[in-house]
Amino acid sequence: MDFRHVLSTTQFQDRGLLHQLFLLADEMERNNKDHRLFQSLQGKVMATLFYEPSTRTRFSFESAMHRLGGRVVTTESATQFSSVTKGETLEDTIRILGTYVDVIVLRHFEKGSAARAAKISNVPVINAGDGTGEHPTQSLLDMYTIYREKGNIDGLTITLMGDLLYGRTIHSLLNLLVVFDGIHVNLVSPKELALPEEYKKILSDHHVSFDEFERVDSVLDKTDVLYVTRVQKERFASLEEYDRVKNCCIVDQNTLEKLPHDAIIMHPLPRVNEIAPAVDADPRAAYFRQAANGLYMRMALLELLFGRKSLHQKSLTAKVST
Ligand code: NCD
Repeated sequence: MDFRHVLSTTQFQDRGLLHQLFLLADEMERNNKDHRLFQSLQGKVMATLFYEPSTRTRFSFESAMHRLGGRVVTTESATQFSSVTKGETLEDTIRILGTYVDVIVLRHFEKGSAARAAKISNVPVINAGDGTGEHPTQSLLDMYTIYREKGNIDGLTITLMGDLLYGRTIHSLLNLLVVFDGIHVNLVSPKELALPEEYKKILSDHHVSFDEFERVDSVLDKTDVLYVTRVQKERFASLEEYDRVKNCCIVDQNTLEKLPHDAIIMHPLPRVNEIAPAVDADPRAAYFRQAANGLYMRMALLELLFGRKSLHQKSLTAKVST
């Protein structure tokens, strides 16, 4: 087994690699619809080790593994149902799991935890969200969604709205947006939830133009992709601080009226009250299609990492190994 980990979207800053993943995800969807069985991961076992709650990420990873012929062992709440309750460290848990399985999908509440796990793991670790750090596989499916919905990513104006401070899906997405040409980014949030400097630097280092706003209204008519995030309640020091900003960024009928007819609205989900249910019926509401794409993108990723090694071996070794 090669030592390959998926920790950050910086490993995927390659148009060719992204395009290959998009095509493979398309193929996965076609094959699923035709009920064609894959066996490329037969004999492999995945552990999904989640220290934070998840619906889409865990179920889509597990379904992806099953659909590729592999098997899954899981703990859906590792803080409660693993030896962590007895005081075991993440490192020890990873060491042990590595003797039972072929790949570990890890979600943890600490930024940098996936890298910590990868350092001592003898099987690949896939970061399924590390605190306020990154969520690379979410960003891959987000980019795939933009590619499917818009046809082309170059030249788009992307408006990121909501909790830009704590939202790890935003942090990861920036690394992939900068790979494309002529992107303009609007950052919309209250001051308290502004994007940290370290992430703004990703944009400036890649000469991607961006503007910051506290309200979305003035940029809606120029937006191609409106990417909304949940205010991350679990990251706040106090409930009062959360309450002050929880309704900062709402998508409703008024938003729909100003948004171009060919724009799309994305959200990694879960939504709390950022998007009114009435918006769901609008064809521009892409968030449920986005969640569905997660299965195909995660199948594509697993296939590329463990199945068809020969396809892109050189690039993967260069880009995905740590
Ligand atoms: C996101 C996450 O966990 O970071 N959800 C997801 O994986 N689809 C976003 C969130 O929790 O708000």
